[in-house]
Amino acid sequence: MAEDQLHPWTGQFRDLGNDDQLAVARLVKEGGAVIGSLEAIVARLRRTQRLALLRIARRGRIVGVAALKTPAQAYRTKTFTAAGIAAGLFGDAAELGYVVVAADMRGKQLSGGLVEAIAKDLPGATYATTDNTTMRNALQRAGFARLGTEWRGQKGDLTLWTIDPRDRPARDALSDDDRAAVAASRPPVVASGFNHELRET
Ligand SMILES: CC(C)(COP(=O)(O)OP(=O)(O)OC[C@H]1O[C@@H](n2cnc3c(N)ncnc32)[C@H](O)[C@@H]1OP(=O)(O)O)[C@@H](O)C(=O)NCCC(=O)NCCS
Repeated sequence: MAEDQLHPWTGQFRDLGNDDQLAVARLVKEGGAVIGSLEAIVARLRRTQRLALLRIARRGRIVGVAALKTPAQAYRTKTFTAAGIAAGLFGDAAELGYVVVAADMRGKQLSGGLVEAIAKDLPGATYATTDNTTMRNALQRAGFARLGTEWRGQKGDLTLWTIDPRDRPARDALSDDDRAAVAASRPPVVASGFNHELRET
């Protein structure tokens, strides 16, 4: 039935009506990656560059979201440092995040399309972090390459993934000297609680 069809949408958060903006914020909150009030999450979503959404029926309920974010410099630096990578190499990188499928819609292979919808039209180098195996696989399918070492997050071991829209995996852009410098500057194990800060941004 047409009502059951899923309609993908990509665009900017500000192009959504108020009800849709709140629905997206609720979904992001349900995903658990951001702790805070709906108003605070709406404020974060306003700062995103682009969203990919999935709706049931053309104007129906929003059941999936992924976002392209502009992370704060300090947050990005912490993330790359945690993975043992010199953050300067990715100074302006955007972040793919807020990937959530509504609880009652999970297991229908919807997450890959959401990641792909963001990844297929990137303005520049982009990264993502995750402790979730399904997300790792989705990022890999979308062309992201894993970079650096795992670090301990609140819920599990986090990994860093990057992509270069010029189709050159960021990992290959490192010279031998860069790799040696990265290895030499690898930080000690990150204390628990660090990930909370990372997830807050
Ligand atoms: C993580 C999350 C988005 C995954 O969505 P899901 O509905 O549970 O999982 P899916 O049905 O999309 O995936 C099921 C399988 O199909 C695969 N799949 C999904 N889309 C696919 C596609 N387009 N092509 C091929 N395979 C696909 C997935 O890789 C997965 O297999 P895997 O676990 O072996 O990798 C969802 O569980 C969620 O919202 N969790 C809470 C929020 C969260 O943790 N987000 C991630 C933050 S980093």
